[in-house]
Amino acid sequence: MSRRLRVGLITTAVIGAGAVLFAQGAAFAAPPAAPDHHTPAAAGTLRQLASQVGLRVGTAIDTDQLASNSPYRAIAATQFSSVTPENVMKWEVVEPTQGTYDWGQADRLVAFAQQNGQLVRGHTLVWHNQLPAWLTAAAPSMSADQLRAILKKHVIDEVTHFKGKVWQWDVVNEAFNDDGTLRDTIWLQKLGPDYIADAFRWAHQADPKALLFYNDYNIEYTGPKSNAVYQLVKDLKAKGVPIDGVGFQTHLDTQYPLPDLQNNLQRFADLGLKVAETEVDVRTTLPVTPVEQNAQVAGYTSTLQACLAVRACLSYTVWGFGDAYSWVPGVFPGEGAATIYDENLQPKPEYTALQQTLALAAGAPGRSDPRH
Ligand code: XIL
Repeated sequence: MSRRLRVGLITTAVIGAGAVLFAQGAAFAAPPAAPDHHTPAAAGTLRQLASQVGLRVGTAIDTDQLASNSPYRAIAATQFSSVTPENVMKWEVVEPTQGTYDWGQADRLVAFAQQNGQLVRGHTLVWHNQLPAWLTAAAPSMSADQLRAILKKHVIDEVTHFKGKVWQWDVVNEAFNDDGTLRDTIWLQKLGPDYIADAFRWAHQADPKALLFYNDYNIEYTGPKSNAVYQLVKDLKAKGVPIDGVGFQTHLDTQYPLPDLQNNLQRFADLGLKVAETEVDVRTTLPVTPVEQNAQVAGYTSTLQACLAVRACLSYTVWGFGDAYSWVPGVFPGEGAATIYDENLQPKPEYTALQQTLALAAGAPGRSDPRH
């Protein structure tokens, strides 16, 4: 059976109604390391190719899928050079009962990363979601000083626990609304906007070597939200607050255009900050049409190209791999197919697009210096 036919059958079995699409799309769907005589430069895993241009290529990890000998584990280990815990470093997981820490799942992920020569993006210290129930229940009746002490302890204890093991921390996540105003969270309500600077100072105190990031979505393009984040991080830098970078989540949808990612990354880099694409996925309405999948391929390609073009872009991280494990269908009704591997963990054209984009960069002269 030829490879093209095999890929077409697998894809048909997975998506069913997408069979017509993949009669056209199959030619792009090569397995990761299979020799491809038409595009020899594309052979190689994502991490091998990315290492040639000094870029870390990462993924969020669903630690429930890491059972030994699982195909998921094998792909996670071989294709990526950085990992982000999708959930297991979040506050509700690490401190389910006040004062009782449970680092087990996160520790196992860190060990996995170390075994595989991967760096860890710590995610995330200060957020309004996935907080422990004991905290959300008690917060409204706490004084500002009480809540600040709890936040400080959380940040310092978690960063201390992982000291020396986390490369980049998402210190503050999603603090802004789309209109550029600060999000109305328990942190803002009780502590005022200074909770952001405080969190960076506490994290730096606990691990002075970790790179500290502000992370958000819908800031990939210029507009009220990214302008507000730009102003925030500029002010933090001016005040000497220890912030090292900005994470652009990059959750794309084929319905919406992405006008100026590269220029936007560059203006943050010009402030003396690192940048990273931290949660890339490209969702679309199901079932996927050829036009939509082409847009998904373009979304992955252009976001990686933008990172490659900005020397301060340290890492390109996808928000999981394998459409069966993606957060998208649970959160965006009727949408999905957002990752670079299909429901059977077969690489999709989106995977090949990343591979070829990295191979092109690796083959270009003058691109081998470390990124900085
Ligand atoms: C999501 C996870 O993928 C889901 O498994 C979980 O149920 C909810 O959180 N922005 C973020 C991530 O910063 O932490 C979110 O992750 C996706 C959006």
